[in-house]
Amino acid sequence: VRPQDLAGLEVVVSAGGTIEPIDPVRFLGNSSTGRQGIELARAAHERGARVRLVAASIDVDVPAGIEVTRVSSARDMHAAMDTAARTADVVVMAAAVADFRPKNVVRDKIKKTDGGEPPVVRLVENPDILADLAHQRRRPGQTIVGFAAETGDAEGTVLDHARAKARRKGADLLVANDVSGGRTFGSSDNSVTILDRDGSTVASADGSKAAVAHAVWDAVLRARA
Ligand code: C5P
Repeated sequence: VRPQDLAGLEVVVSAGGTIEPIDPVRFLGNSSTGRQGIELARAAHERGARVRLVAASIDVDVPAGIEVTRVSSARDMHAAMDTAARTADVVVMAAAVADFRPKNVVRDKIKKTDGGEPPVVRLVENPDILADLAHQRRRPGQTIVGFAAETGDAEGTVLDHARAKARRKGADLLVANDVSGGRTFGSSDNSVTILDRDGSTVASADGSKAAVAHAVWDAVLRARA
């Protein structure tokens, strides 16, 4: 058995990829499987926390003992996170939330155009749930954790981008992972650097998503100490 060092804490974890409908049968999605979020929920449960999982599209089973709220779109997740965060001591946004959604959901299935102009899907921006929770709705003593899936590019390294995001998002901790070359998504392993709100490195972890989850909770406990 694990040390019960999260006993007495209420935590909420979001996981999986949001689904943004285009028409009754089509949607915009992403490659998140929800595995890292599920491992975060499992690890917190093992360490004695009361855990609520807000799950978008996931392709792994939810462990027993975890209360689940199922959501589909980013806006559904926003509403569910707002409610769950009202009483939570720790909020972890591990979900892959779509930055954009189709502006209008087409009521009937979009038909083939028989050589005509293909349809145009116009997008609008989704709310940034993490920034909203951190900047507008944080309750006293609440610890907020975000994730940042980054690739390095001409503008900077993975860590440069993650540091800038840590400062912008307002979360207490930001877990940065390098997703270049198809790593991370769907894999059972992960390699992360954990930053504080100033962008300073407080920990790094490399190994199974379960091991990474425990490292995140260790960092949460240190941040709350
Ligand atoms: O800005 P970016 O999408 O890279 O930030 C990732 C972090 O922000 C993750 O914690 C993700 O769950 C969260 N996020 C969010 N709402 C969005 C987009 C991302 O809460 N619309």
